Amino acid sequence: RSRLGNDHLFKEISYHEEVESTQNIAQKLINQGAGSGTVVIANEQTSGRGRLGRDWFSPKDKGIWMSLILKPEITLREAPQLTLLAAVAVTRAISSVCSISSEIKWPNDILVDGKKVCGILTEMQADPDRIKSVIIGIGINVNQTDFPSSIANIATSLAKARGEQVERSELIIQILNEFQWLYEAYLAKGFSFIKPLWEVNAISIGKKIVATTAQGRLTGIAEGINDEGVLILRDDNGKVHHIYSGDITIPKD
Ligand code: BTN
Repeated sequence: RSRLGNDHLFKEISYHEEVESTQNIAQKLINQGAGSGTVVIANEQTSGRGRLGRDWFSPKDKGIWMSLILKPEITLREAPQLTLLAAVAVTRAISSVCSISSEIKWPNDILVDGKKVCGILTEMQADPDRIKSVIIGIGINVNQTDFPSSIANIATSLAKARGEQVERSELIIQILNEFQWLYEAYLAKGFSFIKPLWEVNAISIGKKIVATTAQGRLTGIAEGINDEGVLILRDDNGKVHHIYSGDITIPKD
């Protein structure tokens, strides 16, 4: 905490040994008036949540299960950009603390050796025209040596990739530091500042992808993201689609 410095955005850390989900604790703290920059961290989650209603496996002592509370003055439309920003903060922190290069799969999966090490779940409270608060949930598989069979072939941990255990507190501090400077630059300069940093670590760009969206399934080449953080997909007929949310897979050929 001391290494976060005095002018740090993240001043309030709420640590828990076991919770259902740090997202729920964050929501409760917001209801009680918690300010922007509050961080909820747990050593274990008994019902960790993933995107699209999935469960998030969050065993004791092994990972980073944390939720960041922010109250930025941005619109509802801009809010997903914070997920991309968080992914940039995590990949940069993984690189500097663990010397491992990781890749971002749009919008928010972070992969090492093609398997998932981190997922990000952004939830928000908003009026029709403005954001009231955002909860950015970050789950990182840090020191697991094995996984339940249901996810064993799609998940990995930083320790498995590196061949040695990783100090979770080091990584948390680094993520919060990276997040802070990126967030301040984002508020001052907009998403166009974050976009190239995101692209550096993105694997899907230029590749054939399958996108599953609320509107159905689309196949084509991921051309990149636009200045708003929206994924641009060019289908086999050359038609360009904007993908605001959904899931993508990169088929192996
Ligand atoms: C995903 O990839 O589907 C997102 C996973 C997000 C998991 C994190 S762990 C901390 C926070 N609390 C939760 O219940 N979920 C998020």
